[in-house]
Amino acid sequence: MARPALLQRRVSLLSLSLLCLVPLVQSNGNGLAQTPPMGWMAWERFRCDTDCKDDLENCISEKLFMDMADRLSEDGWRELGYEYVIIDDCWMSRIRDKNGTLQPDPDRFPSGIKRLADYVHNRGLKLGIYADMGRWTCMGFPGTTLDKIELDAQTFASWGVDYLKFDGCNSNALEQLLGYPLMSKALNATGRPMVYSCSWPVYIGSLPPEVNYTLLGDICHLWRNYYDIQDSWDSVQFIMDWFFNNQDYIQPAAGPGKWNDPDMLIIGNFGLSLEQSRTQMALWSIMASPLIMSNDLRSLDNAARAILQNKAAISINQDPLGIQGRRLFKEKTKIEVYWRPLVDAASALVFLSRRSDMPYHYHTSLEKLGFGKGNYEVYDVFEGSKPKPLNSTEQFTVSINPSGVVMWYLKPVKTEFFIYISLVSLIKFPSFKKHLLHFQLFFVCALS
Ligand code: GLA
Repeated sequence: MARPALLQRRVSLLSLSLLCLVPLVQSNGNGLAQTPPMGWMAWERFRCDTDCKDDLENCISEKLFMDMADRLSEDGWRELGYEYVIIDDCWMSRIRDKNGTLQPDPDRFPSGIKRLADYVHNRGLKLGIYADMGRWTCMGFPGTTLDKIELDAQTFASWGVDYLKFDGCNSNALEQLLGYPLMSKALNATGRPMVYSCSWPVYIGSLPPEVNYTLLGDICHLWRNYYDIQDSWDSVQFIMDWFFNNQDYIQPAAGPGKWNDPDMLIIGNFGLSLEQSRTQMALWSIMASPLIMSNDLRSLDNAARAILQNKAAISINQDPLGIQGRRLFKEKTKIEVYWRPLVDAASALVFLSRRSDMPYHYHTSLEKLGFGKGNYEVYDVFEGSKPKPLNSTEQFTVSINPSGVVMWYLKPVKTEFFIYISLVSLIKFPSFKKHLLHFQLFFVCALS
């Protein structure tokens, strides 16, 4: 289990100077992960279930990954960007082969990883795999010690792997300091483009000065900053609070090719209500987080599917500017406001209620939230309504359900267009009639 390791908090001066011996490589210079990676990963939902005799459907086996590749390619996920099928821990045989090479468990992966990669590639998808910088993986399978890094990188490349999650159980801070940059170098040296996901920060305390986020951005495409997600609302809150409480440290580190990773999406499992599922999708999009689902795509209900396949939320998550969003306010009323700047001067806003009583009517204006003067067009991401006009000075009210969100995409509009959509709204949305006077005044001002 990954824990921010108090034990390994202090990295000695000696180890820092040793790092100078490792030539740094720009892993993210290879053009991969220009937007946060999207896909599916086994761990949170299927863990280390190796019991294929009693639980064939759910055990960690090639069948599970083939099933998920089928679902991703046949149920509309791939077209939305969900492209990586990622194997987590427990895929290996308990021993390396006679040449020291990692090998899959022969009973659960009888066709081998190369064949599995072909299966995934034939469906227009990519394959991710898991290894651990240490003596054993977190679940006790063979680890990648420093002397095995090159061999394992080459093995993954020869199998056609496209993504490596490199965990950090069972190693010390010095081994990690050497090993994570070395693996970056070894992956690049294979010549095969592979996204490199580093769990390093989790093991050295998650924050500067122990964690050097500039270095991480140079060598890794994404990194796990904090605790493992579990199938509960408590866990989602715990993680998102850490990310936003520490936004000053971690938010500037993210950008195209380098992403903070608050861990998998658990939408569609057992622990989140509908509102909480929307909250996870909304905040993971605000945070420019990888959208890596860990659920059972074979039996996902329609509500979960609709949230995970919400095109507006995905396009906010995948915004090409790649600027991670921030929490703007925490109100005494337990309402919180989050914001992410997007391409073309657009923005995403999320209003979150941490209340547990009833829908809360939150009154504010764009001006109060710090937006520049002018007219905006607002689109409600989960309601899917037509864009509505809003002037920055105008007071508005959002009704936010307990543990739920209202998520907006908004962008500034030119005056003529604003007049046009104002008029359309007046006709189409009767509730907007209360704004009539405002619009008329605006119209007169705009024409004068
Ligand atoms: C650690 C990681 C998890 C998962 C497990 C597998 O806890 O943080 O994401 O990979 O190991 O053992």
